[in-house]
Amino acid sequence: MTATIIDGTAVAADIREKIKGRVAELYAATGRKPGLATVLVGEDPASQAYVRMKGKNSVEVGMESFSYKLPATATQEEVEGLVRELNANPAVHGILVQLPLPKHLNEEAILGAISLEKDVDGFHPVNIGRLVMKGRKPLFIPCTPKGCMVLLERSGVPLEGANAVVLGRSNIVGMPMAALLLHANATVTTCHSRSRDLPGICRRADVLVAAVGRPKMVKGDWIKPGAVVIDVGVNRVEDPTAKSGYRLVGDVDFDEVKEVAGMITPVPGGVGPMTIAMLLQNTLDAFERTV
Ligand code: GUN
Repeated sequence: MTATIIDGTAVAADIREKIKGRVAELYAATGRKPGLATVLVGEDPASQAYVRMKGKNSVEVGMESFSYKLPATATQEEVEGLVRELNANPAVHGILVQLPLPKHLNEEAILGAISLEKDVDGFHPVNIGRLVMKGRKPLFIPCTPKGCMVLLERSGVPLEGANAVVLGRSNIVGMPMAALLLHANATVTTCHSRSRDLPGICRRADVLVAAVGRPKMVKGDWIKPGAVVIDVGVNRVEDPTAKSGYRLVGDVDFDEVKEVAGMITPVPGGVGPMTIAMLLQNTLDAFERTV
């Protein structure tokens, strides 16, 4: 049996179309557009590519894009000063500070300086605090885990009572993903590089979310037959046959795992496009709260 491919590109395109329609409707009614500001510190090529895509996609749905680039030597005061400026700018409804930041900067203080109402990444400590607590409502849910949940919902995957395993414990994906699955009444296990018997833990998963940043780490014999596998990994591996000299692979060995799983997201074309669609959705939500 070969797994059904969950087509994130198609789902994201559908969501972007709906956002585009709503942005046009609101523009006709108010003469205003949602504005998304991105802040990139330093020159990391992957981060540059992500920020470029975020700006391009926001313009494509009719939003205003503000792009700020600071040198890798920028000081804490400079970055926080820019964030405060954007907090005060009424044309900006969403602020995204691309991570990771250079090591000398205090990420927690910078993310905490973003106005709660403009925290479209959902990384402000108050939004994260609300996300992990029962019965609280964050203003925004982090984009990548939110995108994974939408893919699971749209694919009709039952989560109530399911064994969900999250491989990876990052602030950006693993931790918020585990919280969202728990709120959906799954039984959640978070595992990581120090966990004993990773293959054994993963084999118990009805739903496996891989977010560790290790190319093709999850093998076919780590998978329960019929399980749903969500691959969040975006790893650049050398490929002399590619024009860029590299290609992207996930954390999951796709060729092996697709022979065992019931459903699987490909890389590229799975979770990646959903992250940006959710960012646009969060920016639209931020704007709608102001009209
Ligand atoms: N770096 C990797 N993923 C993300 C994300 O979703 N948002 C931000 N700001 N930085 C990231």
